Amino acid sequence: MNTNDYINFFDELDDFDESEKVLNAGKRLPRNTGRHPKKLSVTDRVFVREQDDSRGNFKFTYKAARFEEWWLLDSLGNFYEHKWITDVLKRVKGGKEASVYQCQPGAEVDAPLVAAKVYRPRSLRNLKNDGEYRVGRVDLDEDGNALVKQADIHAIAKRTSYGEELRHQSWIAYEFKTLETLFEAGVDVPKPYALEKNAILMEFVGDAVTAAPPLSSVALDVDEAQEIYERVVRNIDIMLTHNRIHGDLSAYNILYWDGDIKLIDFPQVVLPESNPSSWNIFQRDVIRVCQYFSAQGMDCDARKLAVDLWTSHGHKVFKEVDPKFLDPEKPEDRKAWNQRK
Ligand SMILES: Nc1ncnc2c1ncn2[C@@H]1O[C@H](COP(=O)(O)OP(=O)(O)OP(=O)(O)O)[C@@H](O)[C@H]1O
Ligand SMILES: [Mg+2]
Repeated sequence: MNTNDYINFFDELDDFDESEKVLNAGKRLPRNTGRHPKKLSVTDRVFVREQDDSRGNFKFTYKAARFEEWWLLDSLGNFYEHKWITDVLKRVKGGKEASVYQCQPGAEVDAPLVAAKVYRPRSLRNLKNDGEYRVGRVDLDEDGNALVKQADIHAIAKRTSYGEELRHQSWIAYEFKTLETLFEAGVDVPKPYALEKNAILMEFVGDAVTAAPPLSSVALDVDEAQEIYERVVRNIDIMLTHNRIHGDLSAYNILYWDGDIKLIDFPQVVLPESNPSSWNIFQRDVIRVCQYFSAQGMDCDARKLAVDLWTSHGHKVFKEVDPKFLDPEKPEDRKAWNQRK
């Protein structure tokens, strides 16, 4: 496939996503009635196809457009070969950075359904401004291991085409490794299963018919709002214990299902001790979360919550200086930088 074909496909995808923002996702839920959609148990699985696992046999139920099909075969072929998935069932959501698909799991997976987050090719990805988040992070390879080869590190710093490819992979690997760390730590995140060059595989939140809606489209009654709020705060607290800040946390990146929540979307994760903007980023996460809960009728003091959580983990609250205004050649700027660590 040449670049023009790719561009045409992703343009089509953009048009499509404008008209159908979230495919199959939950409609705006009525104020909580106490009834939640039933969760699908492993025994509810409709059927698992006998799998001939060679990549050439990978065909799926989802009716993909021509280029999308090519893109999926390329991105998910390894998951198929390694029996992580047997089928792609439907697209849940197309985004500027990645699209998420509901898949039928293979023999290696202990869940009724899985979600594949498939990133756009690097050249067509609508990059979040990733520089701010990458500060202090060691880049990872496609297996999630730290890149150590000087030539690779140099290529990334020089932003060569190869370096940009490595950077793209590192971004995806961070999402997967973060899910692994946080899942182990007991944070409410989808269970991660596998990482590929261009995609990650995780537990699907929702059931065969409906994908879990983001909390932003859910109206909670006051009691449940309080419960979910405490849960989110507990999650943020555990993340800090494990030296992680989400970096793009808001009710849009929290899925709500059956009275439970799952935090998603971690490629931009920030390490508090190595990023000089970490306090600002952390504070912004907390403010956005509190905006949602205030709209649900809760009395939230975002600034106090952010300061309390931050300082309880031994971090200092600094005056806000954007690192882009710091010059490593100036001693006073270097001092400001070091103070923030
Ligand atoms: N594990 C999952 N189970 C079910 N649905 C999911 C899962 N992960 C993601 N989704 C759906 O896909 C959407 C996009 O996922 P995510 O936020 O990780 O990607 P993104 O590229 O950052 O998208 P956006 O730019 O819209 O935030 C989510 O809002 C949700 O609707
Ligand atoms: Mg998101």
